[in-house]
Amino acid sequence: MTNILCIGAGYVGGSTMPIVASHCPQHRFVIVDINAARIAAWQSDQLPIYEPGLDEIVKKTRGRNLFFSTDVNKHIAEADIIFVSVNTPTKTFGAGAGRAADLQYWEKTARQILENSTSSKIVVEKSTLPVRTAEAMERILNSNGRGLHFDILSNPEFLAEGTAVRDMENPDRVLIGGRETESGQKAVAALVDLYANWVPRECIITTNLWSSELSKLVANAFLAQRISSINAISALCEKTEADVSEVAYAIGLDNRIGKYFLRASVGFGGSCFKKDILNLVYLCEHYGLPEVARYWEQVVTMNEYQELRFASKMVSSMFNTVAGKRIALFGAAFKANTNDTRESPALEVCRALLEERADIIITDPHAMENARYDLGDLAKHVTFEADPYAAAKDSHAIAVLTEWSQFAQLDYEKIFASMAKPAFLFDGRNLLDHKNLHAIGFNVYPIGKPALTHLLSPNP
Ligand code: NAD
Ligand code: UGA
Repeated sequence: MTNILCIGAGYVGGSTMPIVASHCPQHRFVIVDINAARIAAWQSDQLPIYEPGLDEIVKKTRGRNLFFSTDVNKHIAEADIIFVSVNTPTKTFGAGAGRAADLQYWEKTARQILENSTSSKIVVEKSTLPVRTAEAMERILNSNGRGLHFDILSNPEFLAEGTAVRDMENPDRVLIGGRETESGQKAVAALVDLYANWVPRECIITTNLWSSELSKLVANAFLAQRISSINAISALCEKTEADVSEVAYAIGLDNRIGKYFLRASVGFGGSCFKKDILNLVYLCEHYGLPEVARYWEQVVTMNEYQELRFASKMVSSMFNTVAGKRIALFGAAFKANTNDTRESPALEVCRALLEERADIIITDPHAMENARYDLGDLAKHVTFEADPYAAAKDSHAIAVLTEWSQFAQLDYEKIFASMAKPAFLFDGRNLLDHKNLHAIGFNVYPIGKPALTHLLSPNP
């Protein structure tokens, strides 16, 4: 039996480790966090994150070979392998503020590992980190003077929220980076063996440490770049009567381009894309590559443009004012099937419309609590309504901002009848049947497609 510890019971630690534990009943897993409320939630029937399929896996493994605890020091002492999945947000202070990764949680964890270890260990970087972080970690951990040796591995996580269980059960690849020393390679082999309990060995790839660390940032940058690229084209489509879905389909059939991640939208959100690209930008600047930095920075700039373009289009379409108008936002989560609202475009649009003094009402099946928290002081100017029909009643407009399938199944005739007229619908996810909505009487504004309106000037 190996004692495996995961430090950080957030989205990543909390959704990955139960799945590893379910496939490795021969090993003992503990997930620790300094946030006692979070640990209590993981031990309860109301898990702190909404992730389809995760509840059953946690129920199956919890108390069997998976345990949650706040006693970080004790479990560090007992562990053979430690996964570190603490948060690595964008720095908000000092050098690199607004770009560089804030490594304070990661470094504190490294020092805590050092203080509480009585045996040599493998330490796995699960958090997303700047390239060459492992070098600093090696220096901290191997400066112990107690004869303890720590092998640092990079094993970035590629799961997406909402599909975390599927992504972990059946990953495209597992990436493990380690030192090319004998001890480093032994550590790599131990981690490969762990994953091989359910992942085919040909899907487990090993590289040097720096390639592995950098690949994670690059994967997110490439994914986000595709969204910004198609969103840039969506703006051109709206000017030219081309249809962005048809363009995406046409180009995506080219195998060299591929069909994934070409859904035009109100913008990408989530805790990682923006943070990881800004981190990449910072690294490029640090290594004296300003042109490369500017290239990637544009992916984030385009995303901000798309979010604000959507909000401005709402205002201009509604006769240049939304002040005092009731507007229902369908969705707060940054994507469907999660309760996560970090960097959600829905909340960006909400903020922009509040500036215009709109009367905002938000409905979302799982993310209202997080939305309220993330909006901070602004939340007191927003109404939260669980029932989408009640949210839409008397509204001048609906904006679909998260692609929850529930929103596609609503009775829009009933909704239209209850709204102020003319009734507007802005579909930031191209989720709904626009022709049908138009036939019902809505003025419909999709992303990257001609507007379908009953007004005299359809494309303001
Ligand atoms: P999160 O904020 O949800 O969770 C991090 C947890 O670490 C928190 O609960 C926090 O209390 C805990 N923590 C911080 N310092 C600690 C310490 N010293 N000891 C014990 N616990 C501590 O973050 P997340 O979304 O799980 O992301 C974690 C990392 O994984 C980040 O680097 C992120 O970029 C990366 N990542 C996230 C996703 C995702 O889908 N969210 C996917 C891939 C990679
Ligand atoms: C993303 C990556 O997909 C994961 O591989 C990575 O592990 C993770 O970031 C991370 O490092 O945190 P995630 O942010 O959870 O996962 O979700 P995505 O499915 O990538 O969606 C991100 C955003 O892009 C969402 O707002 C989504 O609605 C939007 N999106 C996605 C589009 O607007 N269009 C698309 O075609 C795809």
